[in-house]
Amino acid sequence: MTKLLRGFFFCAAAQEPNYDEAEVVSYTLPDPLVMSDGSPVATAEDWTAKRRPELLELFGREMYGVMPGVDRSRLAFETLRTDPVAFDGKATFKEVRIYFDAPNPAPKLDLLIAIPNKAEKPVPAFLLLNFQGNHTTDSDPWISISDNTEGNHTRGVNGEERRGYKKDRYPFEMIIDRGYALATAYYEDIDPDFDDQRQNGVHPLFAEFEKNVPEESRAATITAWAWGLSRALDCLETIPEIDAARVAVVGHSRLGKTSLWAGANDPRFAAVISNDSGCGGAALTRRNFGETIETINRTFPHWFCPKYKTYVGRTEELPIDQHELIALIAPRPVYVASASEDLWADPTGEYLSAYNADSVYRLLGTEGIGGAPAEPPEVDTPVGAVIHYHRRTGKHNLSEYDWAQYLDFADEYLPKKN
Ligand code: GCU
Repeated sequence: MTKLLRGFFFCAAAQEPNYDEAEVVSYTLPDPLVMSDGSPVATAEDWTAKRRPELLELFGREMYGVMPGVDRSRLAFETLRTDPVAFDGKATFKEVRIYFDAPNPAPKLDLLIAIPNKAEKPVPAFLLLNFQGNHTTDSDPWISISDNTEGNHTRGVNGEERRGYKKDRYPFEMIIDRGYALATAYYEDIDPDFDDQRQNGVHPLFAEFEKNVPEESRAATITAWAWGLSRALDCLETIPEIDAARVAVVGHSRLGKTSLWAGANDPRFAAVISNDSGCGGAALTRRNFGETIETINRTFPHWFCPKYKTYVGRTEELPIDQHELIALIAPRPVYVASASEDLWADPTGEYLSAYNADSVYRLLGTEGIGGAPAEPPEVDTPVGAVIHYHRRTGKHNLSEYDWAQYLDFADEYLPKKN
């Protein structure tokens, strides 16, 4: 970010969040089925060959930073440990290390994978990054303690005392019992979650790919995390018990923003689930309800590229909005979820994004949101079809209720086994 831009940005006066629907100023959303030059997107072929690449480029250049490629010769996977009798023999745990810059030992990502023993192989899987380390996702003493001491969430509190501490968000047994694998990894292994001007994590690996990308559009941290998710999928492709063609990428909150961007970029993700992802995720930016482009860029400047900050105070000039991020996942199944008390994430804005992606899903021959109306549904009443949505009663969280819906959704909409 240039000094000038930073100065402007940090001087911008902080505003109280708006939680009043009556205060949402009227806005016009960009039409996903109209090209930037005004020409219509009339056929599936137009979408796939022209509009989809145009939108993907816009989201990269203007918001998250352009997704870097990968030098596969520098990727390596190593199975570190296996426990064939996890969860009383119901599952096999594997810990697999992904080296991003082999033969260098760092940066690396440790993937914890639970594979159901009884289910017919290969099994479909959910892949999600976790916030505090693999050992916080379940109390099983077998799981290695994530040894990252650089992360924002693990500095000073990264030991045995945190084992299983977030297990409610990762209901392994519920998922295994339904015949799915669950793969998870600590997000700050990919890129620590603080602003260090792109020095740490995987950022140095992007230098070669970014030679021709303007500085204002280079991969920010959400792009780095999404890139890491694709490398985790590369790894899952090498595990015979997992059906890599049936992997749903899931994320909560900042990692829900990440799962949408990962799914938009990497068509190998068979389904995408965004839980309470809010501003910069599923919520429409133009509504300015709850968290805004201004507040998110002030608090988390490293999540988005410098170009995005130039839209603070002029969201109507953004050439994109978040319904088009969801449209980039079409025709694959997508689930957007909100929580009733999570007004910061703007549940209505999250629903409207899902709703407004429908035209693209229908152009591609799917049922889209299945005829659900523009009005958000009642709480605890999932709606939709290949685009699905619910607003759970309660706070910002990834809960058992949410998982129950995702499992039903995966049963119905993930591609069937070949
Ligand atoms: C903050 C941030 C949100 C984000 C959330 C999270 O509340 O403002 O944008 O989704 O953290 O990731 O938990």
